[in-house]
Amino acid sequence: RAGALPAVRSIAAPAAEAVAPPTLAIVYGSQTGNAKRLAESLASQAEAAGLAVRLLRADAYPTRELKNERYLVVVISTQGDGDPPDDARGFVEFIAGKRAPALPELKFAVLGLGDSSYPQFCEIGRRLDERLAELGAARLLERGDADLDLETVATPWIARALEVARETIKAPPRASVTPLRPSAAVPAAPTRDAPFAAELLANQRITGRGSDRDIRHLEISLEGSGLHYEPGDALGVWPVNPPALVDAVIATLGLDGEQAVTIGPDTRSVREALLRKRELTRITRPFLVQHAQRANSDLLAGLLAPEGAASLAALFAQQQLIDLLRTYPASWSASEFVAALRPLAPRLYSIASSQAVVGDEAHLTVAHVEYAVGDGASPDSLRWGAASNFLARTDEGERLPVFIEANERFRLPADASRDVIMIGPGTGVAPFRGFVQHRVEAGASGRNWLVFGNPHARTDFLYQTEWQDALKRGQLHRLDLAFSRDGIRAVGHGDATPPKTYVQHRLREHGRELFAWLESGAHLYVCGDATRMARDVHATLLGVIAEHGGRDAESANDYLNDLQSQGRYARDVY
Ligand code: 2AM
Repeated sequence: RAGALPAVRSIAAPAAEAVAPPTLAIVYGSQTGNAKRLAESLASQAEAAGLAVRLLRADAYPTRELKNERYLVVVISTQGDGDPPDDARGFVEFIAGKRAPALPELKFAVLGLGDSSYPQFCEIGRRLDERLAELGAARLLERGDADLDLETVATPWIARALEVARETIKAPPRASVTPLRPSAAVPAAPTRDAPFAAELLANQRITGRGSDRDIRHLEISLEGSGLHYEPGDALGVWPVNPPALVDAVIATLGLDGEQAVTIGPDTRSVREALLRKRELTRITRPFLVQHAQRANSDLLAGLLAPEGAASLAALFAQQQLIDLLRTYPASWSASEFVAALRPLAPRLYSIASSQAVVGDEAHLTVAHVEYAVGDGASPDSLRWGAASNFLARTDEGERLPVFIEANERFRLPADASRDVIMIGPGTGVAPFRGFVQHRVEAGASGRNWLVFGNPHARTDFLYQTEWQDALKRGQLHRLDLAFSRDGIRAVGHGDATPPKTYVQHRLREHGRELFAWLESGAHLYVCGDATRMARDVHATLLGVIAEHGGRDAESANDYLNDLQSQGRYARDVY
C-alpha cells in the first residue's frame, strides 16, 4: 500500500566496524501511531543532517545489542493505566528487569507520550528514563512528557533532540549515507491537519429499547476524498464540543462568549474557541495545577501531591471540567482560561467495514457517552463524551471533519488460510465486522471465530442478524457470546448475586480449542476496553496457554510475547 512502511526500517546502518561512524538508534513503542510518526520524523531529519540512523520498532530491537549502543532515543507512549504499548512490552520488561546490562557508554533521551487526563501520565517514558540513568547511561536531553496535542511538547522536543544529536554525534562522511528513497508522488489525501468534510449517510441506534447503552451505527461517505483504508484502520474525527456545555462553562466563569481570544495565529471568539479548539470535558493535570492556585484550594493542592494520587485518579475518573469549575470557583480571564486548556485533539474510531464491500463508505460503531450527575433533575446535570456526543447529535446529511489513521499493527493475516480469533465485547466488535466482511469478499479459507459480549442479549447483541447470517453461510465458524447480566435475576431473595459472564470466561471454557487454534497458526485479536477487559483477557490467555500448553507462568508469557512479535496477537484497545 502506498505510504506504508515496513515495521523495521534500517537507514544507513553501518556495519559494526571500528571505523564505522556512531549510529543514532531511534526506538519507538506506539499504540495509536503517534510515537511511530514522531520517531520517523526524527529519523528522516537526522539522516538528512548526515547522521547514521537506525530506526526500530521496540519489539524488533535486539535487546542483547543494547550494551553496545552509543546513542539512543526512545519515543514511547503510555496506555491508560500505566501500561506500555503492546509493541514495547518486551523492550520495557528487559530494561526494567534484572537482565539489563550496565550502560556506562550510552547517551540517551526519552520522549514519553500520554494523556494528561490519566494519573499515570507518561509513566512508561518516566520509568525508562529513570532506569536508563540508573544503569549508568547519560542523558543527552531531559525527558519530554507530551500530551495528546503534539504541538506543545512533542514537536519541539523532537526538534531539540535533532539539534543535540547533531552537536553530539560526529556525522559520518557523506558518502557512507544511503539517501532515503524519495516518497512516491501521491495526490495529497486529506490528513489529520487537513481533514475531509464527509457526509454522514446514516446514524442509527442499534441497541434496543430498554438498553442502558446508546450505541450507534454510523455510515460516513468518503466519496471524492481519495481516502482509503484497510480493515483494522481507524477513522479520525475532529469533534465540536456540546454547545450546551460551552454555554455552561462560559456562564460558570462569568465570561463574555463573544470576546476575542487569540490561539496561535488566529483570533476567534471565546465561544468558538471552546467549541472547536479546546478540550472541554476531561480534566488535565496541567490545568488542575493552575486552577488549584487560582481557587486557592488546599484540597486541590493535596490531590496534586504524591500522597493524593489515588484521590486524583478518582477525580479524573469521576469529574469533568465543568464539575471542577463549579465546585472550586476561581477567577479566570478569557485568554488565560483558553490558554490553560489542552488543545482539542481528534478521536479515533475503529472502522467497522471493509471497502471491498462498502466501497466509498466507512462505518463506525460508537457508544454515545451521556449521563446525568447529581439528582439528574436540572438541565445542567448532563455530561457527555465530547466526540461520541458530537457524532450522536450529527444528523444524516450533515458533514464531519474526518481522516484515516492507519493501524499497521492490527491487520488481517497476509496468508488468508490462517484462522483468526476475534475478541471484541461492546463496541470492540467494530473492526471485526470489517474483518469478516473483508475475509468473505476475499474468499479467505481460514476460519473466523468471534467472541462477543455485552450486558443483555435482547437489547445489546450488536449486528446480531449479520453474525447469525454469517454463521448460517459458513462465513463465521464459531460465535461465542457472553451476555454479562442475563444470568443475573432480581436480587433480594437472600440469593447471592451470580457472577457476571464475560468474554474471558468463554475463552477459559473453550481453552483447549483456543490453544489448538493458536498452535495451528491462528491470529488473535482483542478490541475494546483497555483497563479492565483487555487486562483480564490477557491474564486469561496466559492461563489458557499455561494450562493447555503445559507451561509455567514465565514460559506462557514468552509464548504470548512471541505471538505478539510475530504479529499474531494484536490489540486495539482504548
Ligand atoms: P458489564 O457492564 O455487565 O459489567 C461490554 O461493555 C461488555 O463488557 C459488557 O457486557 C460489560 O459487562 C463487559 N465487561 C465489563 N468489565 C469487563 C471485564 N473486566 N472483562 C470483560 N468484560 C467486561
